Amino acid sequence: MNDKHPGPLVVEGKLVDAERLKKESNYLRGTIARDLHDGLTGGFNGDNFLLIRFHGMYQQDDRDIRAERAEQKLEPRHAMMLRCRLPGGIITPQQWLAIDTFATANTLYGSIRLTNRQTFQFHGILKKNVKPAHQMLHEVGLDSLATANDVNRNVLCTSNPIESKLHQEAYEWAKKLSEHLLPQTRAYAEIWLDQEKVATTDQEPILGATYLPRKFKTTVVVPPHNDVDLHANDMNFIAIAEKGKLVGFNLLVGGGLSIDHGNKATYARTASEFGFLPLDKTLAVAEAVVTTQRDWGNRTDRKNAKTKYTLERVGVDIFKAEVEKRAGIKFAPIRPYTFTTRGERFGWVKGIDKKWHLTLFIENGRLLDYPGRALKSGIAEIARIHHGDFRLTANQNLIIAGVPESGKSTIEAIARAHGLMDTVSAQRENSMACVSFPTCPLAMAEAERFLPDFVTRVENIMTQHGVGDEHIVLRVTGCPNGCGRALLAEIGLVGKAPGRYNLYIGGNRIGTRIPRMYRENINEEEILADIDQLVARWAQERDADEGFGDFSIRAGVVKPVLDPAHDFWE
Ligand code: HEM
Ligand code: SF4
Repeated sequence: MNDKHPGPLVVEGKLVDAERLKKESNYLRGTIARDLHDGLTGGFNGDNFLLIRFHGMYQQDDRDIRAERAEQKLEPRHAMMLRCRLPGGIITPQQWLAIDTFATANTLYGSIRLTNRQTFQFHGILKKNVKPAHQMLHEVGLDSLATANDVNRNVLCTSNPIESKLHQEAYEWAKKLSEHLLPQTRAYAEIWLDQEKVATTDQEPILGATYLPRKFKTTVVVPPHNDVDLHANDMNFIAIAEKGKLVGFNLLVGGGLSIDHGNKATYARTASEFGFLPLDKTLAVAEAVVTTQRDWGNRTDRKNAKTKYTLERVGVDIFKAEVEKRAGIKFAPIRPYTFTTRGERFGWVKGIDKKWHLTLFIENGRLLDYPGRALKSGIAEIARIHHGDFRLTANQNLIIAGVPESGKSTIEAIARAHGLMDTVSAQRENSMACVSFPTCPLAMAEAERFLPDFVTRVENIMTQHGVGDEHIVLRVTGCPNGCGRALLAEIGLVGKAPGRYNLYIGGNRIGTRIPRMYRENINEEEILADIDQLVARWAQERDADEGFGDFSIRAGVVKPVLDPAHDFWE
């Protein structure tokens, strides 16, 4: 469907089961509280299995040992993944120490995973430790509310170590947006924090009694950095400044990356420009976008339920006019903005407050004590003496922010001693993977465990062709759901089956173009052979400063994806 042939505003038909579940959940309570005490299983039963996602948890099991357990006639080893809400990715050292201690003592893997949506996840929390996890978070002023399922999830903000007042202002808006769009139900407080039931009727004025049709993601972006990858998100506020002061936002709606292999009704889509809004309209506009998607999103098919599909069905102009009506605003034309980067600036930078900020590379965002590289202990040691804050980036890295000149050398010494400042190539710095095996129930191929060695092989290819100091934005995602954001990469691998991937080529460095499938269902050797051939051409034939993705398009290696709803599968 395109703008000339808009479809219905509301899709009639049989609602998916998730809608029944939300409706019957009594505002996300279900029978979770009772289920917690069911010692017969390590998991949650029936609807609760999905309901706990609204509370920030996924029930998982270790897929490496699933078959072995089945042979022994044991149920899979259930454990929860818990994802914190951390708008803009900022966390204090005290909070960090609390999560570090918990991860070590109470999770199966002992690690903390920094995610590519600026928060952290614990993997492997047994059922008996779930409530203590929520209580620990609450004690230090954190929660995991609305970090999964059909709600507005953790709000991202361009990571920056207070180098400008603009970033600070943008961050405040990320927090306000997150708070404003949170579920109002008291279910979380009652179940996990033992807070009293209050005798009011629950209401969800923004999200509605059956919440949103599908997950919903929001960002606040400060150009020229597009580190948050706005086009992977439903609602994006691009900061516009006059004389260094924030005056409003450009609003872009309807980005999203998830697809289904071979299902041509699905596609990755970049967000559409709606227009400029003044600051005082921010929350009203956010609310209007969310409620329009709430009312018009397709609740009969979860694979067609995201904002990107609603926009394509009803037409961008009609969706935009409805947002204007609901927010009581007429959008001004988009103000000029440009992006130049998506990556991090590793190492030390000095901020406006004369303090120093250190960006550390954390491969795959996985903080664990490896032999000879005690990364997790190193961060904990820094947290014990650090008076600034920590900032998690949307590239799964970590900034130690707000270090006085006098504290620099101690922090650097700790970081170096724990392998947190080992030199890595530009290629590795610009490579990313989703979690995938062993915990993700949807994984089709390895991603996080595959990436490190794969990058080494790509580095070798780059060196052989004389471009060893340069980089190609390279991402691996274990299945087409796309958590690793491979469909905004210059080279993207999307897992198909164990050891097999679809290879996508032709995104750009700043993340504003969707790549195109170049080869289907190939193994690592075949992928590397293709990369070898393409990098050789890029190294020889490119224009000055031309990125690999841009070159692939100009040289005709792949046709650009210009209008994903119609040409993604061509
Ligand atoms: C239908 C679509 C999707 C489904 C069903 C889905 C499901 C999941 C699941 C089950 C996990 C947990 C894996 C684990 O930690 O063991 C996960 C992780 C994650 N997903 Fe998704 N996902 C989808 C799309 C996306 C997209 C498009 C993005 C971002 C563009 C995204 C961002 C993330 C992030 C940030 C994590 C945390 C770990 C990481 O940094 O890789 N997801 N997702
Ligand atoms: S992309 Fe697939 S395999 Fe990777 S974390 Fe997301 S759902 Fe799991």
